[in-house]
Amino acid sequence: MAIDAGFLDELRARTPITSVIGRRVKLTRSGRNWKGCCPFHGEKTPSFYVYDDHFHCFGCGVHGDVISFVMQSEGRSFPEAVEELASAAGLEVPAQTRESREAVVHARSLEDVLNATQALWAQALYQPEGRAGLDYLLGRGLTRETIASFGLGWAGEGRGALAAVLEREGITPVQMAEAGLMRLDEDGRPKGELFWGRVTFPIRDRKGRLVSFGGRILGDGQPKYLNGPETALFSKRRLLFGLDRARAAIRAPRPKGVSAPDLVVVEGYMDVIALHQAGFTGAVAPLGTALTPEQLEVLWQVDRAPILCFDGDAAGRRAAVKAAQTALPLLKADHTLRFCLLPEGEDPDSLVRGRGAQAVAGLFGGARGLSDVLFDLLAGGMVQPGPEERAALRHKLTESAALIADKALASEYRRTLLDHFFTRFRSSGRGKGGGAPGGRGGAGRPRPGPPHLSYWIRRVSGIVCC
Ligand code: UTP
Ligand code: MN
Repeated sequence: MAIDAGFLDELRARTPITSVIGRRVKLTRSGRNWKGCCPFHGEKTPSFYVYDDHFHCFGCGVHGDVISFVMQSEGRSFPEAVEELASAAGLEVPAQTRESREAVVHARSLEDVLNATQALWAQALYQPEGRAGLDYLLGRGLTRETIASFGLGWAGEGRGALAAVLEREGITPVQMAEAGLMRLDEDGRPKGELFWGRVTFPIRDRKGRLVSFGGRILGDGQPKYLNGPETALFSKRRLLFGLDRARAAIRAPRPKGVSAPDLVVVEGYMDVIALHQAGFTGAVAPLGTALTPEQLEVLWQVDRAPILCFDGDAAGRRAAVKAAQTALPLLKADHTLRFCLLPEGEDPDSLVRGRGAQAVAGLFGGARGLSDVLFDLLAGGMVQPGPEERAALRHKLTESAALIADKALASEYRRTLLDHFFTRFRSSGRGKGGGAPGGRGGAGRPRPGPPHLSYWIRRVSGIVCC
């Protein structure tokens, strides 16, 4: 059913979103906006925000405008929600006089556009034009079953080919642009297809709705991966590739004694897919960016201690520190992280193929807690630290603990990190350095009792002696 867009704009303008939501959710002021406990998932502290024209929950990611609120909260269809809001606002929904193709076209949602594209690309993989793409994926060790189950596809040769086919289905270039399938010129006009000559990865939200695509070039061209741009449906900050499947796998009923798969965050599309194929069905990945606070919140809805994987090289360790620092302010006793540093130069895809699922299971099984890893990450590179370096490290440790908003947990972290510090450096004496950089050896179990006093006596006597 096509409802005139101008009428919908008027309806939204005449329907204050806070009053509609306020009937179901107790809202309080938060700066210029409002917040309350999300009606779509159980929560005790508010993370559901209402802005002037939309709502958003930082807990579960649900968002939309006033019409979608009514649809989602009352289980109404789009026309029913419009009807309900219109009658409350004293407006009459215009009768459908124009059954023209144009009007029907207009009503097609972005989701329709994406789904039509997905159908074409998935088919193309099995046509002669997509043969190279299929061979590429098979060559990377994916089975036909995996390829089909993830809906991988082939975006053909571009130059308007997709637009031409979609146009026959009544989809315009502007709608393709809104769905994130077109590049735009400076004036915002569609200017050529974004994806062509690539294998395609449908990106789904946590409920499995198609929201965008990623595409990988075959071989070594640049950029290696393309991701769709931000759209009304797709927000990179909130989404994790594979989360729909991971969430379902983790929540699925299972026989007694069989534990849920770990929620594991890896770097890339191919890592996620290779891991799922190997039975690690809790694998997810952000979309080419560092983990955001929003993504962490979404992860914690699924697992209290997701495992983050990083390459064991310097860049991977830097990324791990960054992730830890993003997570610290949000930590709670039941919201934490585990870390898995992979052998240098390997990613989960190469590991699972090269060393097998058993070895990968061992790595995940050895994932370490945040406080433990944080100390090593911050102290890891230290060789024979002098007083300045030690002081700087202590400062970093206490600063990191202070990032934690939960006061009780912050104080426990401070204590644990300093315990590590004293254990690592106390027995080694000034100038001799700690255990192996980054190794577990020196950062073992904290010794009983507070080490502070003897440490300071030694420090002070050291200063006096010199
Ligand atoms: P990597 O470059 O680490 O590659 O990208 P990868 O996952 O190992 O890919 P393969 O194995 O060579 O196929 C990790 C992720 O970073 C994003 C993508 O989301 C990718 O999955 N990325 C990477 C981009 O967005 N653009 C790029 O050009 C490269
Ligand atoms: Mn890879």
